[in-house]
Amino acid sequence: MVMVATIPGLAAKAEEPVAVTGATGFIGGEVVRQLTGGGFPVRALVRPAKAGRRQDRPGVAWLNGTLGDAAALVRLVRGCRMVVHCAGATRGLTPDDFREVNENGVRRLAAAIHSLPPVKRPRLLHISSLAAREPHLSPYAASKRGGELVLETEFADLPYTILRPPAVYGPGDRELRPLLRWLARGVLFAPGGAAARLSLLHVSDLAAAVRAWLEYGRGRDEGRTFTLDDGRPGGYAWEDIRRCGVDFRRRPVLRLNVPRRVVRLAAGINTARARLVVGCRPMLTAGKVRELYHPDWVCGHQELRAACGWEPRIRLLDGLRLMAGDDCGRRFGTIPGDVS
Ligand SMILES: NC(=O)c1ccc[n+]([C@@H]2O[C@H](COP(=O)([O-])OP(=O)(O)OC[C@H]3O[C@@H](n4cnc5c(N)ncnc54)[C@H](OP(=O)(O)O)[C@@H]3O)[C@@H](O)[C@H]2O)c1
Repeated sequence: MVMVATIPGLAAKAEEPVAVTGATGFIGGEVVRQLTGGGFPVRALVRPAKAGRRQDRPGVAWLNGTLGDAAALVRLVRGCRMVVHCAGATRGLTPDDFREVNENGVRRLAAAIHSLPPVKRPRLLHISSLAAREPHLSPYAASKRGGELVLETEFADLPYTILRPPAVYGPGDRELRPLLRWLARGVLFAPGGAAARLSLLHVSDLAAAVRAWLEYGRGRDEGRTFTLDDGRPGGYAWEDIRRCGVDFRRRPVLRLNVPRRVVRLAAGINTARARLVVGCRPMLTAGKVRELYHPDWVCGHQELRAACGWEPRIRLLDGLRLMAGDDCGRRFGTIPGDVS
């Protein structure tokens, strides 16, 4: 199987840029880094109010606009070879907070592509979420499925592909990183019971999958939805994650099962507090608790591998070592001497 890093001739790139939304975010930032590192010119959407977050790097042309700005979206996609849609709302208070970005944003972006003549329409790679598999769990999950449905029902004639990553972690991640840092310090706070299982994915592998799709995605796979994971069959039980912590530290890790009612209480307090602050978008809400305690977040990547040759390279133990390397200067937890 071909690994992306060893693809011959990768340096020879077409002139048309790849359009990226969400480039100031955790996943989009890594996608931009890997695309430009591979020689692909990138045109990246940035919200004017957040322009300070953009990281200038060679090969990136920034374009001011939002997912609510139809004219900017046409400027974004015109003349591009591919659009990677990484922008999304992962935090919010009301269903509308999620729907507006994750559903209506997809609709406006797809409409911008659709407004171009058919031969000039770039391929769209939409970063959805494994949460879309369980839309009843939360407003976030429903909105991610809503975004997929927009493509499947309203823009079925567009050349689009959907990726459904599971929980993604890595540099810049705000959701899983606290839990992994505690794991590295020797304590695992485990939501969910002994039977719960989840797949994980390092952000670097996700960005490599985007790049593989750009290089090797085939027309006949358009309109399809792919999952992707770190390659561990059956995902991780919380006990497996604890054992990864032990292997990483070479010392014991204490697993604390966090009762659902405690997290639900914390979510209630968090939500009430967020209602008092204008514009606050909380992460821990009742919907997030239902997601956290869902027993099956396992997926695979075989179909994606068959479609574009991508294979994951970073499992959790490697991911913990990479995190230790990133954080080394900041002295978190206990870092074994030989990690890098
Ligand atoms: N993180 C995960 O574990 C995970 C797992 C599966 C799927 N996903 C999906 O991956 C995508 C990216 O997630 P992430 O973790 O990278 O989130 P993130 O760090 O919060 O980044 C979100 C990005 O979307 C942009 N954005 C939000 N609303 C926008 C709007 N109205 N117009 C234009 N841009 C907007 C943000 O711009 P600003 O910088 O201006 O705020 C930011 O660049 C999301 O669709 C998410 O559902 C994430």
